[in-house]
Amino acid sequence: KSYSEEDLYRPNFHFTPKKAWMNDPNGMFYKNGYYHLYFQHYPDGNTWGPMHWGHAISTDMVTWKEMPIAIYPDDKGYIFSGSAVVDVNNTSGFSKGGGQPIIAMFTYHDMDGEKAGKTNYQSQAIAYSLDEGQTFTKYSSNPVIKNPNIRDFRDPKITWDSIHEKWVMVLAAGQKIMLYSSSNLKDWKLESDFGDGIGAHGGVWECPDFFPMVVQGTDEIKWVLLVSINPGGPNGGSATQYFVGDFDGKQFKIDPSFEKDLNSSEHKSIWIDYGRDNYAGVTWANIPDTDGRKLFMGWMSNWEYANVVPTETWRSAMTVARQIELQKVNASYRLLFQPVKELTSYRSTKFKKESIAINGDTKIIDSKAIDLSSTEINFKISDLKDKGFTFKLTNKQGDTLAFGYNNSDKNFFVDRRKSGKTEFSEKFVNHVSVAKRTSLNPDLLGTIILDKTSIELFFDNGETVMTEIFFPNSPFDKLSIEPKDQEFVLDSIEIHKLNF
Ligand code: FRU
Repeated sequence: KSYSEEDLYRPNFHFTPKKAWMNDPNGMFYKNGYYHLYFQHYPDGNTWGPMHWGHAISTDMVTWKEMPIAIYPDDKGYIFSGSAVVDVNNTSGFSKGGGQPIIAMFTYHDMDGEKAGKTNYQSQAIAYSLDEGQTFTKYSSNPVIKNPNIRDFRDPKITWDSIHEKWVMVLAAGQKIMLYSSSNLKDWKLESDFGDGIGAHGGVWECPDFFPMVVQGTDEIKWVLLVSINPGGPNGGSATQYFVGDFDGKQFKIDPSFEKDLNSSEHKSIWIDYGRDNYAGVTWANIPDTDGRKLFMGWMSNWEYANVVPTETWRSAMTVARQIELQKVNASYRLLFQPVKELTSYRSTKFKKESIAINGDTKIIDSKAIDLSSTEINFKISDLKDKGFTFKLTNKQGDTLAFGYNNSDKNFFVDRRKSGKTEFSEKFVNHVSVAKRTSLNPDLLGTIILDKTSIELFFDNGETVMTEIFFPNSPFDKLSIEPKDQEFVLDSIEIHKLNF
């Protein structure tokens, strides 16, 4: 059988643009029943180019409808990453009729300035929408933040700080984060910076996000700073680290317990995802208090090979939307990421098995029973200790995607070296991605989200996450599992076909 690119690689339920290039998610906000997603987009080519903000909407963050392009580049430059907020009290004054304008803040990237060898070619600008985020008008006094002579100066992310009653905004500047505040979204005051001598510095800092969260099960509030970095990720290339601490309205101070964890960790860093394909992710603005969740989405690729992955019509997809929780773990703090619960309403056929003795390569299921490219899997192994295992997705072509847990080094892993098309990039297959297990829970719980070209692994309730993409020569049609060195019992495995 021969497959078209659409058949084989267009994801079943991960957002992709109908055509052409996409990178970072931008400007996500919620209003009137719709989740909005904008994205870095070059509509005239399938590699990175002059950036626009593409647009899509959804009522559940799972099924997306692509809308017309929302923001176009102009003579000030390309439209780089940024954020958007609903200006509920019209603090900006852009709504003359008393409505709630949407304010987008983005980076202008002046290509000519860059080519001319200047360093100040990135500046921050705003645009407003009076039609629920469909079209935007650029502010006449842009830029609102000029470049202070810093080469990489971009990706503004705004949050309404209800504690200090002002807008706060974080910006990546070289290998630091700059914090600003504003009362009207037009005039921005630099408050402080963060990042000297802390965290991972293997590359440029990009696409920060900064927001307060209640520590689960307590009244305690901590501030979370997400910082994407490229290169320098734990398994190479692009990845996103985070920091937990306190904010007094001016300065972010990392929590001493979290700082201690950072300093004792391998790369002086803790990552939201240890796989190679979750980058530049940020959270949704204006989620109603009645919902109260922190909701996140990332770009499911890596700058090491994003421009050459083997699709032509479109390039790259987003992760599934994820809910973030902040938990106190062993006297410190950790973010936990899980797929949004909305995904479970797409469950259809279910397969469940309990107490399976795994003493050799054991078939779990094949694609005749459940399509393995549109699937949610939940499994449990009680009393993990020295049990190691490898799940394998295979097809008749001989492609294999392997993932699991290695009991000897306590690492979760994803091995896509023989997963299908890989020759497009040596870096795509130069090693097996690993993530140290940090949970002290005796039992292991795992959730696996499978689409045609992606796997998203949530271990230990989302304390360790791994997201990776792959391109099999034909769909994977069998899932099996084998023990690493001793036989063990797979306590339960539940597989749901997801219908879209
Ligand atoms: C991150 C990034 C951002 C920038 C955008 C350009 O992937 O490099 O820093 O704004 O992509 O498309």
